[in-house]
Amino acid sequence: MANVCVITGGGSGMGLEAAKLMKDKIVVVSGRTEAKLEKAVAQLKALGITAYAKACDTSDRASVNALAEYAASLGEIKNVINCAGLSPAMAKPETILRVNALGTVYVNEAFVKYMKAGSVIVDVASNSAYVLPGFLINKKVYALAETDEAAFLKKLLKKSSLAKGDYQRSGFAYALSKNFVVWYAKKCAFDYGKQGIRVVSLSPGLIATDMGNLEAKDGGMLIPFSAEERMGKPEELGFALATVADERNGYLAGVDVLVDGGSTNGMKEFKKKKK
Ligand SMILES: NC(=O)c1ccc[n+]([C@@H]2O[C@H](COP(=O)([O-])OP(=O)(O)OC[C@H]3O[C@@H](n4cnc5c(N)ncnc54)[C@H](OP(=O)(O)O)[C@@H]3O)[C@@H](O)[C@H]2O)c1
Repeated sequence: MANVCVITGGGSGMGLEAAKLMKDKIVVVSGRTEAKLEKAVAQLKALGITAYAKACDTSDRASVNALAEYAASLGEIKNVINCAGLSPAMAKPETILRVNALGTVYVNEAFVKYMKAGSVIVDVASNSAYVLPGFLINKKVYALAETDEAAFLKKLLKKSSLAKGDYQRSGFAYALSKNFVVWYAKKCAFDYGKQGIRVVSLSPGLIATDMGNLEAKDGGMLIPFSAEERMGKPEELGFALATVADERNGYLAGVDVLVDGGSTNGMKEFKKKKK
């Protein structure tokens, strides 16, 4: 049976870069925009990769279930790289929470039903997950995502509304959604671990994709704190995602992998003291 790698948000950015490295798999790239997916499939085919496009909106549970069913019809799902996401400049707080946070729940819940021992889910978070003040983080609220979506959204929207200005409110919603992804991926690692399925979150810093370029003004504030003092390249993140998803990385589970050029640690510890 063929091995399948599914990449949500795989039509562009770091997801597409990860797809380019999946030479021994059937790759399914997914997102909302079919034209973008077809273009990505053409690029992958030109590299000799067997690739398919399947439209899916990860904020819609039925759409995610259909994606999982489709991928399972192609072979054994070995890797799910969940890159689909919206940034503060792209959407209002509720949409950001629905796509980034609830979308991750829908993806993990849908795919785990088809996955077997030795497979892996990589949920993409962000170094924004680490910038929130502690009083905004409430794991009891996070747990509602699996049991009471309406209450989950209501409580996180209330926290987002503490920010002043539309962009800042979306920024709070984004950081909360990604802090949730880090927590939820850890939870899933322990829930699915008994089945031999690894779950890892990966938190990029500011990366020069379409999204990263759009957020460069605000996201760029962390760059001076990074060890590298530059934006990351999409292909660097593609490599990191593919490596974390690789079966040979079988002992990597239940953690967040920060791929941010050192900006989070620089902000919290090293560079701050120097300046
Ligand atoms: N670039 C950065 O600086 C940065 C930093 C930290 C974290 N991240 C995270 O990294 C991930 C990948 O982002 P990227 O930088 O590679 O940007 P990107 O090129 O904009 O990729 C995001 C992808 O997600 C898809 N998407 C958006 N909403 C979706 C939905 N509801 N359902 C399905 N697909 C959806 C988009 O395609 P459609 O619009 O066609 O659906 C797009 O292909 C995101 O989760 C992002 O939050 C990025």
